Amino acid sequence: MKKYIFAITGASGPVVGIRALKKLAEVAEVHILISSQSFSIIKFESGIDWSGKKDMDIQRKIREYFGADNIYYHGENNMAATVSSGSFKTDGMFVAPCSMKSLSGIANGYANSLIERAADVTIKEGRPLVLSPREMPFSAIHLENMLKLARMGVKIAPPVPGFYHRPENINDLVDFMAGKLIDAMGVEHNIYKRWS
Ligand SMILES: Cc1cc2nc3c(=O)[nH]c(=O)nc-3n(C[C@H](O)[C@H](O)[C@H](O)COP(=O)(O)O)c2cc1C
Repeated sequence: MKKYIFAITGASGPVVGIRALKKLAEVAEVHILISSQSFSIIKFESGIDWSGKKDMDIQRKIREYFGADNIYYHGENNMAATVSSGSFKTDGMFVAPCSMKSLSGIANGYANSLIERAADVTIKEGRPLVLSPREMPFSAIHLENMLKLARMGVKIAPPVPGFYHRPENINDLVDFMAGKLIDAMGVEHNIYKRWS
């Protein structure tokens, strides 16, 4: 079974990441990282309360939500977590959505949280990293951070909807964006209808 790290940071639209995560958890072991800011945005925008006192409580809630035991949660300050080391092998990492703060931390190797550290490790080990930055509009700072990372081979996959699959509702748009996110990692799925 493939093994991926999936981080959710405090930008709008965690629903897209959560949809992609659901699909990923059907075919792979997933290590979830959620920034403290993201917990409240997930609750505010999607009504899902994953907060908890202990990491194990949070992991239990997340496993229940997805109905999957192959999901592991690591707290954002747990620098001793498996995903903090390059010797823990993974097949790649997603950050979706990726806030401009986390984007900056990753682009500059700041490694101030487990999310930034895991991304730093993913880059140094030459493993696939897919970031889904969300902001509108992007400033030159944001764009420079993205360009710097893209030149290193990091995939920049923002949540941009397409309309050629004729979406009928918001779910269709979310599925399309989640599917494109998973495409960026090269994982097979049938979340959206491909152009043919
Ligand atoms: C409701 C809400 C929506 C936000 N949306 C965004 C966003 O789309 N993009 C972004 O870069 N920051 C957004 N922010 C600000 C980030 O949450 C903030 O910069 C935070 O420090 C990011 O930290 P993190 O990357 O550790 O999660 C939002 C904040 C709130 C409360």
